[in-house]
Amino acid sequence: MFRASGIVYLILSLVAGGVLARGAQTNGPQLGKIPLREVIAAMTLEEKAKLLVGMGMNIPGLPIDPEDQRVPEKVPGAAGRTHAIARLGIPSLTLSDGPAGVRIDPVRKDDPSRTYYATGFPVATLLASSWDTELVREVGVAMGSEARDYGIDVLLAPAMNIHRNPLGGRNFEYYSEDPLLSGKMAAAFVKGVQSVGVGTSIKHFAANNQEFNRMQSNSLIGERALREIYLKGFEIAVKEAQPWTVMSAYNLINGTYASQSRDLLTTILRDEWGFKGVVMSDWFAGNDPVAQIRAGNDLIMPGVPMQIRAIVEAVRRGDLSGRQLDESVERVLRLILQSPTFKGYKYSNQPDLKAHAQVARRAASEGMVLLKNEGGTLPLTRARRVALYGNASYDLIAGGAGSGNVNKAYVVSLDRGLAAAGYTLIDSLREDYLRYLTEQKAKQPAQRSVLFIPPPVPEMAIATDRVRRDAEEADVALITLARNSGEGADRKVEEFTLSSAERALIEAVSDAFHARGKRVIVVLNVCGPVEVASWRDRVDAILLAWQPGQEGGHAIADVLSGRVNPSGRLPMTFPIKYEDVPSARNFPGRELVGKKPLIPDNPFAGKPAEVIYEEGIYVGYRYYSTAGVEPAYEFGYGLSYTDFAYSDFKVSAARFDGQVKATVTITNVGKVPGREVVQLYVGGPTRNLARPARELKAFAKTDLLRPGQSQTLEFTLRAADLASFDPVRSAWVVEAGTYRLMVGASSARIKASAEIEVKSDLVVERAHRALVPQVVIEELRLGSRGR
Ligand code: BGC
Repeated sequence: MFRASGIVYLILSLVAGGVLARGAQTNGPQLGKIPLREVIAAMTLEEKAKLLVGMGMNIPGLPIDPEDQRVPEKVPGAAGRTHAIARLGIPSLTLSDGPAGVRIDPVRKDDPSRTYYATGFPVATLLASSWDTELVREVGVAMGSEARDYGIDVLLAPAMNIHRNPLGGRNFEYYSEDPLLSGKMAAAFVKGVQSVGVGTSIKHFAANNQEFNRMQSNSLIGERALREIYLKGFEIAVKEAQPWTVMSAYNLINGTYASQSRDLLTTILRDEWGFKGVVMSDWFAGNDPVAQIRAGNDLIMPGVPMQIRAIVEAVRRGDLSGRQLDESVERVLRLILQSPTFKGYKYSNQPDLKAHAQVARRAASEGMVLLKNEGGTLPLTRARRVALYGNASYDLIAGGAGSGNVNKAYVVSLDRGLAAAGYTLIDSLREDYLRYLTEQKAKQPAQRSVLFIPPPVPEMAIATDRVRRDAEEADVALITLARNSGEGADRKVEEFTLSSAERALIEAVSDAFHARGKRVIVVLNVCGPVEVASWRDRVDAILLAWQPGQEGGHAIADVLSGRVNPSGRLPMTFPIKYEDVPSARNFPGRELVGKKPLIPDNPFAGKPAEVIYEEGIYVGYRYYSTAGVEPAYEFGYGLSYTDFAYSDFKVSAARFDGQVKATVTITNVGKVPGREVVQLYVGGPTRNLARPARELKAFAKTDLLRPGQSQTLEFTLRAADLASFDPVRSAWVVEAGTYRLMVGASSARIKASAEIEVKSDLVVERAHRALVPQVVIEELRLGSRGR
């Protein structure tokens, strides 16, 4: 009897406990069940502040609320999570990087029986090189569904800062030097990810174009360059795709932290562009959480307990209005309402990695750029025996370092890719490389943090007589050269140029193979432009493979073999020499020696610094084409295994009446199927506002055209597409005069053009005076006017 009643008591108390526990969770109005404003009204000040500050990171030494620390991570290795408020039915969201795939831990302590690898897609620069918005959307769909099936609510991508300088350490995560191409790519990616019900975060908003002292660096930029170059891509992505979130950048812009700038996050982003979502800070960005909320930075990531206290106290003191707090709370709650977690999505932890690998492979081959192809060296149809040189031929760099890295299950190296495509390699060469790489890698420091960038392994030296023997044996030589970079550091000029070992390799191989009438191909497995002008004459073909993701070896082999006809085009300029780069003198900025740190007591926060965007709007091809500086390979350039003819270029009217249509017919006049990227540039009058010689205003990629097949493409330009930003009038203006529409195969290869007249000045849109430089630097003004 006693025993039985004991059990009954136990059961009863468990049931009651469960009811009580549930009761404790549900003692407030439940999110989603009643109007949002009632949920907000039921929240305490502390709960509101908690909702706006993330749960922190479980990294030794970082402040974290002990209570938060006890909550097991839903997805180990995800970048961050928001606070749950159980009593109101508000769940915690999980956020994860990043632009090349879902960055989570592949192995979990609590579940050693299986792995959680994610697909390593090609880097964003490669995706942009495809100039194919439909392809990028498909990559977004694959990445989004992978995120969703791993329990992620918001993917911290796409990253879309402008390639202001080829040495930018995170350029590989970004698309292009051109804002239109960046904006269109980002919009396509966002649409893809969000179509499967997962959020995106377009980042890093804005003017985060260098890594040097990134948490305390002040980007000094004129208003025109900001509007036309550094904000434009974000504007396009916001207006075309409404990303669920925007991530504000680490840096300051004209003296104010991006994450604390109301001009940027409210006046421009929300009032002018109509952004409806959440702004979150970059991880540990800024130095004043109250200023962040005041600016419209709704969510502070990854969050430290101090920030919650600061917000609560500021509201109590009256330094932060309850209304502003509630606005941010409402936006975060709306984000939660949209999320897979709130909707109860049952994630499988079993994304379709096989299918996504195929998407990664296809995307990689579509974004590779054929830079040189002398005498039809490529595709390799007859040559079967390949002498394969260069460390990276056997150890391909699939993607860059830092938060843009992905923990993928494998990387297909080029030797394996070529072997799978039926080519024969020289075994002894392969064995020597593999041995050398194993030895060298054993000496490398272990990865200690996400910011670790593996130091490059020096090129293995090859004896000249060996190369001579290889040249007897093989039909063709292939050399892969590689570059890597990552978050927290910019590249050095010495990484732009070739090392002496790389030069020696090119020379030895080309001498030996050319002496036997055999060809030499270089594959560039790089994160950004490298110097090519001094050595390209020594080789017969150059394929720019970028960092092509986990299927890289197969994708490169697809292009080399001709299975895929290359159709990538450069999304940035390859300069002849580094000194030609318009920002060379002002990159990555200078340390402000003696200035008080803006973020004290944080060894990771770097030093106060500033970077002057002296070149104004003359970034990339806008500079080269205007100043007449010859690049090695121009923006928009890329070869194909076939040829295309442009014909019947027509514009709808000679007088602009608010809209003009341009059409052009593209015909494949070569021997194999291929795709052409058709680019529409515009040059205009320079009455009050100086303008670049040409600016990309539209582009399209043809279908796969069979030999002899044609396709007619149509582009529509509206007044906003012709407008320049006039900082004096704070408005987008189309100045009266003659505009030249140029259709071309690159920014230099213009095939046809036509003129249209604008009768009188048109003010397309008035803007606020925002982000105005505090100190008017003469050079900044020169960049926007006068020249
Ligand atoms: C990076 C972001 C990233 C975040 C979370 C930061 O260091 O700048 O791009 O999303 O970390 O990992």
